[in-house]
Amino acid sequence: MTDSSNDAVHGRAAPKLPIQGKRNILITSALPYVNNVPHLGNIIGCVLSADVFARYCRLRGYNAIYICGTDEYGTATETKAMEEKCTPQQICDKYHAIHKEVYKWFNISFDEFGRTSSPQQTEVCQAIFKKLMENNWLSENVMQQLYCDKCQKFLADRLVEGVCPTQDCNYDSARGDQCEKCGKLLNPIELKDPRCKFCRSTPHIRDTNHLFLELPLLKDKLEEYINHMSVAGSWSQNAIQATHAWLKEGLKPRCITRDLKWGVPVPHEKFKDKVFYVWFDAPIGYVSITSCYTPDWEKWWKNPENVELYQFMGKDNVPFHTVMFPSTLLGTSENWTLMKTISVTEYLNYEAGKFSKSKGVGVFGNDAKDTNIPVEVWRYYLLTNRPEVSDTLFTWVDLQAKLNSELLNNLGNFINRVLSFIAKPAGQSATFGNGAFTLNLEAVQQILSLII
Ligand code: MF3
Ligand code: ZN
Repeated sequence: MTDSSNDAVHGRAAPKLPIQGKRNILITSALPYVNNVPHLGNIIGCVLSADVFARYCRLRGYNAIYICGTDEYGTATETKAMEEKCTPQQICDKYHAIHKEVYKWFNISFDEFGRTSSPQQTEVCQAIFKKLMENNWLSENVMQQLYCDKCQKFLADRLVEGVCPTQDCNYDSARGDQCEKCGKLLNPIELKDPRCKFCRSTPHIRDTNHLFLELPLLKDKLEEYINHMSVAGSWSQNAIQATHAWLKEGLKPRCITRDLKWGVPVPHEKFKDKVFYVWFDAPIGYVSITSCYTPDWEKWWKNPENVELYQFMGKDNVPFHTVMFPSTLLGTSENWTLMKTISVTEYLNYEAGKFSKSKGVGVFGNDAKDTNIPVEVWRYYLLTNRPEVSDTLFTWVDLQAKLNSELLNNLGNFINRVLSFIAKPAGQSATFGNGAFTLNLEAVQQILSLII
């Protein structure tokens, strides 16, 4: 990690910019929600996978940068702040530092690890919004939202729980924004038997004015992009499937504003007390964090002819990156670098169940560190057990087995044999120094021919 960080004044190397005639690769991993300590599932699901790809690109001599940071706005942060009796800003400062520390321990080689609660984020996000407004891709509409009479407030999507409306799911603690079990994105008023997360009482529907991104009007541009890029960028099956599932349901206008305080303010007279929906601003974070890396960020982000954008994420993030974010960028009519390749992971489960930040089940970044198992072992284990085409399972017993059989027995023995083979004098040999170390040249040659 370039920790010496965020400022040329502090004497770090000049930021990399795209170079004509080279492969210029812009790599991102999904911006983790700030309000919790990341667990192993998050680590393999995005930052570690992207890290390996970034390292590969650099070794190949490609001109690559890897951008990530914490996703800080929205209800989840406001709720956490209430729980910990502090301000959202304090929550973000605290957890941003924790994330940074964990990824540093995992040797994640970010070129920039930023955050979405920055002035740069406000600037880029509002500029994109103004373009969408100018181009008439936004509409105003009354939205029905659940209001809790007892708590006297509109309940954000995540603060409502109920039964998932999907027929064959019926999960009874589906969140208002998305069912964690079947993955379906929800509108909270679709939930059956909704409950207020604070006081458990039944909320009621109330009207409130909001702005919507007119996805139906953007449909042709979007489909053209998806059809072309999914082939050109060899999107994985799980990404294509999730995207088509969305398109098949029919594109609907999506609300991009919220009745909240902790977010990017909407620069519009009628909506000045509202903020942007966190899923509208979060992907813009990739851009604003790049703008913290270099003032020439547009050379990466508005240069589709010369830059390839590779994005890494968990499966629940797919439609936001294949549908929502591209639509937002296409709607500006500016020449944005759109995602070329998407790399999606399924879930890494823990022992018998799911990792859950909110329920505290699983191994978290700081736990891994405290085990005293070297980070290379964790990296190796997570990468070989990467949930690439289906969910995989983390168990302590499996970690031990892989460590003993693959790393110690296979790799350790191999290296040990090679070294002792080389060191034993036989046939033609060369002696170094005072003769204490003798190389068996024949053996060296044999080994090299095996490797090369
Ligand atoms: N914070 C989201 C999550 O952890 C991911 C945001 S990705 C971005 O699921 F595109 F919005 F940045
Ligand atoms: Zn309530």
